[in-house]
Amino acid sequence: MSKTTLPSIRDVAALSGKTVLLRASLNVPVKGGTVTNAFRIKRALLTINYLREQGAKVVVIGHIGREPEETLQPVHVELERAVGAKWCPSVTGEAVQAAVHSLQEGEVLLLENVRQDPREKAGDDSLAKELASVADLYVNDAFAASHRSHASLTGIPQFLPSYFGFNFLHEYEELSKAMEPQHPALFILGGAKFETKLPLVAKYAKQYDTVLIGGALANDVYKARGYNVGTSLVSDIDLRSEAILTKENIVVPADVVVDGPQGRRTVAATEVTEGESILDAGPQSIEDLLPVISSARTILWNGPLGNFEHGFAEQTEALARAIAASGAYSIIGGGDTIAAVEGLGIEEHFSFMSTAGGAMLTFLETGTLPAIEAVLARSN
Ligand code: 3PG
Repeated sequence: MSKTTLPSIRDVAALSGKTVLLRASLNVPVKGGTVTNAFRIKRALLTINYLREQGAKVVVIGHIGREPEETLQPVHVELERAVGAKWCPSVTGEAVQAAVHSLQEGEVLLLENVRQDPREKAGDDSLAKELASVADLYVNDAFAASHRSHASLTGIPQFLPSYFGFNFLHEYEELSKAMEPQHPALFILGGAKFETKLPLVAKYAKQYDTVLIGGALANDVYKARGYNVGTSLVSDIDLRSEAILTKENIVVPADVVVDGPQGRRTVAATEVTEGESILDAGPQSIEDLLPVISSARTILWNGPLGNFEHGFAEQTEALARAIAASGAYSIIGGGDTIAAVEGLGIEEHFSFMSTAGGAMLTFLETGTLPAIEAVLARSN
């Protein structure tokens, strides 16, 4: 597939004095009102600082969390510290208009969580139009949210000249490389919900030499093979008639960590018994994969091998260390995967760390995203 050249913010000749509406990826973890991981905010600063240096007035919009009452105030604390950003506790209306009006060249304003307005998730053009009305141009730098057809992502480009920011373009560039890998190539997919990942697995089984399916996704493969998976998390899908089940280059962990009536133990994936739940891959699974990892030229990885959120991180971390040591071109993404790598402090050994989770998978599967198409549909 040939790559499309996306309109870049660098293409805009005169930004000085222009009001730029910047959709950023600000959905970051927060605890007790404080941002606990600023990875996405740091990536957003590349474009914010460029726009400031060019003399633009920067109006930043973004979402946080899934509940409409969640606030971007903790993100504002970070942006205030980094670039002196101002804050407006509204998404639209007079307060926003006044705050934008008072912005000077090079200044930054953050608006409240755009999902506080129900029209955002509904993809309502009336919200897109209102947001657009305060600006001269729109920049999408929120790759991680661009699989959503929400008003701030797919709606605004109908109303303003539209471009992509540096974080977005970097994601596009790197993930496009992953779609045409150097061989031997290894794809590792963890997490859950096989029903949403089947086309991706089928596609990468053709393009990559080895595909390791881990996390709860592996449980569906075990089940389809007729193994007992006890009370393990499984998807709403029956893989028995799917072609991927018999593909030799698709592999699953050979051993697993389970908990149940016999306590916590590591067993062969074929030995799980009634009442036991699979919580992580076992150490033999990583050992088995080491020769594949060390000979790979490209490694693409999204999703943990175990129930990471509940502390079953051991084999995800072992995998991260092995990839870091491999020298392969490595592209990783997904919140838990990035958290594992950051927790180990080995970020610099990875070629590219995506800010995206679901959007990364959609892009890898389809080669595009709804918000990319929305900008391309507009001729600036
Ligand atoms: C993100 O920002 O991480 C993505 O948009 C995913 O969040 P969502 O599933 O709430 O859209």
